[in-house]
This record gives sequence, C-alpha cells and structure tokens, in this order.
Amino acid sequence: MSKRVAILLSGGGSNMRALVASMTGDHPARPAVVLSNRADAGGIAWAAARGIATEVVDHRPHGANRAAFEAELTERLMPYGIDIICLAGFMRVLTAGFVTPWQGRMINIHPSLLPKYRGLHTHARALEAGEQEVGCTVHEVTAELDEGPILGQARVPVLAGDTPDSLAARVLAQEHMLYPMVLRRFAEGNRAPVYLP
Ligand code: GRF
Repeated sequence: MSKRVAILLSGGGSNMRALVASMTGDHPARPAVVLSNRADAGGIAWAAARGIATEVVDHRPHGANRAAFEAELTERLMPYGIDIICLAGFMRVLTAGFVTPWQGRMINIHPSLLPKYRGLHTHARALEAGEQEVGCTVHEVTAELDEGPILGQARVPVLAGDTPDSLAARVLAQEHMLYPMVLRRFAEGNRAPVYLP
C-alpha cells in the first residue's frame, strides 16, 4: 500500500508542487494532505484546485503557546493516517513535543549545505562569508532546528555578481530535483544520503 504523505508549508509551495508531481506511477507514496499555518498560502489554493485535501491551522490564536498549536496540528493530521511528513517551507519552529513522536518519519528541506547556515537568510549569509558554493539539504527532522541526519544535498556554484535572490532562484531549482528524489528513497526505506550533482 502507498505511504501517505502530509506536506506542510507556509508559502507558495513550489517544493510541495514538485513533490506532488513526483508521486505518481510506481512511486511508493501519495500526497494525502497539504497543511498550512496560513490560509492565504499559495500552496493551499494550488493543492485544493487539484483535488488534494487541505488543512489550515492558524498559529496566531495560540500566541506563544506552541504546544497548543502543535496539538491542533496533530489533531488535524490524525484522520489522514499519515506515514511521512514533508516540511516544505513551513515557517514555524516545531518543538520536541511534536517532533519526537514523528522522528524518523518527518523530513525537511533547507536552503543551505547543512550544517552550514541553519536558520533564516541563508543565501545572504553565505554570500557575506564569501562562499564559493552553496546548496540545499534534505534531512530528517529532530528537535534541534535544521539538524538531523542528512538524506541528500545538492550543490550550486556561486557566480560573480550573484545576489541573495539570484542564488535563491538557482538553489530552488535544485531543491525541486533533490526533494522528490529523497522522498522517493525515504519512502522506500533508503536513508543513505544522496549527493547532487
Ligand atoms: C525553500 O527555499 C525551502 O528550502 C525553504 O523555504 C523555501 C520554500 O519555498 N525551507 P517553496 O514554498 O517551496 O517555494
């Protein structure tokens, strides 16, 4: 039976689209639900228009109470019988209370060559540091932010005149190749890291 995948996002969801597009044919997984903390996330409208179940869990009514937000996430995901969670631009920090029960079944994509540049503004920080090469990483999610075993990385050379935006665009194109590749392997039970190109 196919693995059931929940994809969590906060924005346009270009990675989500790449993941959804990949889960066809003999792929061992299928998208079961796309969930966002923002009702206006472009990814929600895109998924709904394609007949994929969607859920919105607004974090704002919960204020600083992350546990209450995460309890609602759990409650909304429950009916879908999820096997794997893919974080794809989900801009909320998840605490151990949520992460621990999902550990080994939840993966994330981050726009840097981890362990370098955890957190935000990765491309600006990499340029500032004079990096010759940047990239993206898919990793298992653990309770520490942008940590966890690496499942795949794709590298992108820094070119003369690059800006954070130009780098972000080239890295994003790699994310769209790397994330589907890693999800497929992960769904097959293969956690050996894959390195692109
Ligand atoms: C990507 O750069 C991803 O690596 C980061 O957030 C961004 C999401 O972009 N975690 P999109 O919504 O998938 O287009």
